[in-house]
Amino acid sequence: MGRDRGLRVAALLLTGMLTVFAAACGSGQRAGTAGGEPSVRVPQDIEKEQDGESRASGNEVTAEELLQADFLLYNVDCASAEPAGFAEGQICGLYQSVSDQPFGTDAGSGKTWGYRQEDYMVREEDRLGEGFLAGKWTIKEEEYPPGGAEMGFAYDFQLPAGEYQVTVGFYNPFGPRKIDVDCEGRRMVEGEKLLRYRLTEKQFDVRVEDGELNLKVYNEEGKRAMDIPILSYIRIAIVPEYTGELLELALEKYTAAEGGEMYTKASYERYEQAVRAAEALRIQASAKEADYKEKFMELKEGYTLLEKKCRYDSFRPGEQWRDTDNELIQAHGGQVQQMRFLDDETGETAARWVWVGEDKTAGARGGIRAYSSEDLYNWQYEGIIMRNVSSREQLETEDYFKELYEGYTEEQLDNVFRCLDANSAIIERPKLIYNEQTKQYVLWFHADGPTEESDSSYAAASAGVAVSDSPFGPYRFIDRYRLNVCPEDQEDMYPSSRGMARDMNLFVDEDKTAYIIYSSEENLTLYISKLNDEYTYLATPPEKAVYGEDFIRLYPGAQREAPAVFVRNGDYYLLSSGCTGWAPNQARYYKSNSMLGEWENMGDPCIGDDKVTTFDSQSTCVFEAPSGELIYMGDRWNSDNLSDSRYIWLPVEFSEDGRMELRWVNEWKY
Ligand code: DGJ
Repeated sequence: MGRDRGLRVAALLLTGMLTVFAAACGSGQRAGTAGGEPSVRVPQDIEKEQDGESRASGNEVTAEELLQADFLLYNVDCASAEPAGFAEGQICGLYQSVSDQPFGTDAGSGKTWGYRQEDYMVREEDRLGEGFLAGKWTIKEEEYPPGGAEMGFAYDFQLPAGEYQVTVGFYNPFGPRKIDVDCEGRRMVEGEKLLRYRLTEKQFDVRVEDGELNLKVYNEEGKRAMDIPILSYIRIAIVPEYTGELLELALEKYTAAEGGEMYTKASYERYEQAVRAAEALRIQASAKEADYKEKFMELKEGYTLLEKKCRYDSFRPGEQWRDTDNELIQAHGGQVQQMRFLDDETGETAARWVWVGEDKTAGARGGIRAYSSEDLYNWQYEGIIMRNVSSREQLETEDYFKELYEGYTEEQLDNVFRCLDANSAIIERPKLIYNEQTKQYVLWFHADGPTEESDSSYAAASAGVAVSDSPFGPYRFIDRYRLNVCPEDQEDMYPSSRGMARDMNLFVDEDKTAYIIYSSEENLTLYISKLNDEYTYLATPPEKAVYGEDFIRLYPGAQREAPAVFVRNGDYYLLSSGCTGWAPNQARYYKSNSMLGEWENMGDPCIGDDKVTTFDSQSTCVFEAPSGELIYMGDRWNSDNLSDSRYIWLPVEFSEDGRMELRWVNEWKY
């Protein structure tokens, strides 16, 4: 901002007669540096003021400088080491050049201010905090009695007559104690309790008439060492007059980076709203000071709370992974693939990575979310693509569901509610495929929950299916099904409940035939079943399905789940886990030359420490990165807090004879 745009401070201040000295402030944030050199200093103005002269004319501090200093004339880091500068990010008050000093003339600013030195005062070194919390005044224990109002910390500050906002901060690394503050002869803080390891901040407005602000901090009730008062910082800010001009300057000062792409969506929207409101107020002739103040504060807050997006340029297995809005990614038991789709925003076909998975925000029960990415490291949240339902009525009252389920009969709606009931339905391991014939995105998932016969959360043991015109939904739930059953001439591992389907995955072969791979027979046997041309049901209903043509069973009784299929050099690989709830176990993979062919047990692909728990993870998907490298995607479930379950993505390697190898890496790039 050019200096010509700066308003003279007299126009801004209630006092209308401030002289400000923007001091040299060490390495800290300097006042008034944004628009060039600080303006001319007029330190003799205080005397003039005491003579009762008007000083508006002699004032050379610009509103920009005041804004830059957050209106702070003093920002005292109490008991900081001398000679003390300002740490990075700390604002130097315009009337000071050191962070604290004994009462006297500030060599840099010419102002008279500081603490009244007493023998009993000690500098308490930092115990936990930093910066303004690092040092603080306390009192020598042996000298504390008599304590009380007798023993405290007194500061005086040279200030022209006017209104000021005073902030006093106390960081307490000791046991709880009380604090009192007097300012300009009045009790401003009375018996405030300072809790251990807490920062307590008190703020009050005060009027100065005699050219000096006097402040004292003590503990009136203090008698013993454990009552000793403490003092961490003092801030004295001018109370400006909020005008349209000040708001205009604030709009320039609080300018976010061009375009806003670097900030989280929510924080940028809040900021933009504040900017729009401030801009609208500027042109309102009838606006009052309170309106300007409100918009100024909203703008400042919107700017201060702007949150930069997390950016990643590598995979860090097991660490928290946040989306581009800085929220934890919720796509557990999921799947990643590259998809082409029509981008609503641009109207053009886009190709992006799509990650679908379980939303565990609220624990075990939630809907399905999707994220998109251009680089596999940074993921944009695309919303809940299939919502669960909190009540039967919701299906007929909420627009989202009304539109989605238009034409469904009452009976069908009852079924949707039963299968997606937020209180009882289990929706796990969602997997997505695109059907080129129907041009629909088809989402299958492990759909479970209690049944009429059983209260168990996993009694239904079914596969659910939903469809949409967009990868990002909303998906219309069709139904959930039990699938193929053990042929009469084979040994059923769980004959009492046939057709079960739990952990599942999908695979579309080169000829576009799709398969569903799932745990059946009470998780004792994996099945691979062919889907129909639309991908929305089995190719052949269970009662007519032919073993070997429509489905196969893999290693009956092997008890495997979490299947993930991929193809490499014409070989089909099926990775799986054992069945131990949320706890990790040893991986095992199988190899075949076709989906319904013979699958050979290849054992554990993991190499190195923690191999017996698949590096504390459970498989969910293997996909190909742009580099051609295959990526293992696993879940490290946290059963105490499912929403903070972590993602384990590792590079999949192969030995010369085609054996799959999985090794731990702390951080890697494809
Ligand atoms: C293991 C499965 O793989 C998960 O999807 C989930 O169903 C848990 N069991 C529940 O214990």
